[in-house]
Amino acid sequence: MAKILETKSLKIQNEAVLVLDFGGQYCQLIARRVRDCNVYCEILPYTTSVEEIRERGYKGIIFTGGPNSVYDEASPRCSKEIFELGVPVLGICYGAQLMSYLLGGEVASSNVKEYGKTQTQFDCTSSLFAGVKESSITWMSHTDYIAKIPEGFRVTAYSDHCPTAAMEDDSRGLYAVQFHPEVEHTECGQMILQNFLKKVCGCKADWEMSSFTETTIAYLKEQLGGSKVICALSGGVDSSVAALLLHRAIGKDLTCIFVDHGLLRKNEGDEVERVFRHQFDMNLIRVNAQDRFLNRLKDVEDPERKRKIIGEEFIRVFEEEAKKLGEINYLCQGTIYPDVVESGNGASAVIKSHHNVGGIPDDVGFVGIVEPLRSLFKDEVRRVGLELGIPDYLVWRQPFPGPGLAVRILGAITPEKLEILREADSIFREEVANAGLEKSINQYFAVLTGIRSVGVMGDERTYDNTIALRAVTTSDFMTADWAHIPHEVLAKASNRITNEVRGVNRVVYDITSKPPATIEWE
Ligand code: XMP
Repeated sequence: MAKILETKSLKIQNEAVLVLDFGGQYCQLIARRVRDCNVYCEILPYTTSVEEIRERGYKGIIFTGGPNSVYDEASPRCSKEIFELGVPVLGICYGAQLMSYLLGGEVASSNVKEYGKTQTQFDCTSSLFAGVKESSITWMSHTDYIAKIPEGFRVTAYSDHCPTAAMEDDSRGLYAVQFHPEVEHTECGQMILQNFLKKVCGCKADWEMSSFTETTIAYLKEQLGGSKVICALSGGVDSSVAALLLHRAIGKDLTCIFVDHGLLRKNEGDEVERVFRHQFDMNLIRVNAQDRFLNRLKDVEDPERKRKIIGEEFIRVFEEEAKKLGEINYLCQGTIYPDVVESGNGASAVIKSHHNVGGIPDDVGFVGIVEPLRSLFKDEVRRVGLELGIPDYLVWRQPFPGPGLAVRILGAITPEKLEILREADSIFREEVANAGLEKSINQYFAVLTGIRSVGVMGDERTYDNTIALRAVTTSDFMTADWAHIPHEVLAKASNRITNEVRGVNRVVYDITSKPPATIEWE
């Protein structure tokens, strides 16, 4: 296994906070909120040893919530020693109950689940609640509650059904809240987190994307100076930003390989080439492999086979090109923080099953892998992209699946079908943009359904293709709602598609959420 170049920001940040993951659904959200307070933070699983936590020198620790009850045999627990590190701890929901349980308090199960917006009374003399409204709304989601607080603690908030909505032992720097401060519905949630970080942990809160960009470029320059690096560039946000960071660090020692598999959207290949080769003057190899991919996909109807073929062929083309370049030391990948956490770093359920490149094999002979965005969330990647001068439309580009239009043409793929889909998709995207909806809809595209139906054009009967339009709103792409696009926008798109795209006589709009449907049709 090629080693990953250590680009974890801890090395270059002077303060960091740990989010210890007990399996809560809001784990990444907590980390996001901490970073919104300009404090760098990392997520580690609850199994991380106390020694490791001590060594990393965090300024504070936050325990996440989790679905378990502390009395379950199998419930996630950490060592009590964590409270003796002299580092402030904030327990949230399950994390609060665990703190109570480990320190000798009692947790009990209630008959009713307290769920949703809850009027809560705060003791604002607590540093955690400085500036918080004495009576304000919090977001609760729990059945168990802290029935007896541990010795040395005092109750600092309560609600009708929750005698201990918060507790603390400020002499030891231990704080616990039953509600979720990270969720928007908690009125003063961000202030509470900020109080914990600044007033309790004493963080300076000076983490900024601009300092990330500068320090990362300097670090990459120092570590990789004189090395040859290649990067698979797809034109998506992550690989584009990763490549540009590296380009700023090592210039022409970076070569980007852009495999055009012929399954891209209208004009996409040329745009990638224009931006990266001409605007940024990068070493870019565009491999026009359309025929190769189409030949291998001929008559293939099964979606999973399509994906597999495209993944394999991609690696083959990439390897061939890499070999032509002679000795290469590093492979650059656009892996971002949610990928790292979802692939097993954290304790949360592993759901993700999609991979862009499908794993470039180690035997290509790289010394190592460099992933400069490993510690960033998507919106942070976008901010770095904007700072590096990547055009707005590229930075805000919606996600596009690695197998491209192949999974948006149901059934076998032909050049004619690709042409129809490209045109229809381009019109839909144009109309969404004309209506100013690009940033409010997270993904939107056209699908060639494979259904033909009867229509009439002029006096002629037609028997032509049906295009489906798909648009969703989502924050994580794991679940999604269909976008309630204004009817006029849909009407305009439908009109234009049937008028301008030959071979289409019907347009339908997909009104299914995920689940039960997926976002893509294949
Ligand atoms: P689904 O269709 O599973 O998609 O709801 C969720 C998100 O993942 C994208 N997607 C893919 N991305 N390779 C990728 O790189 C794939 O094979 C793939 N399949 C789906 C999809 O566009 C959506 O954003």
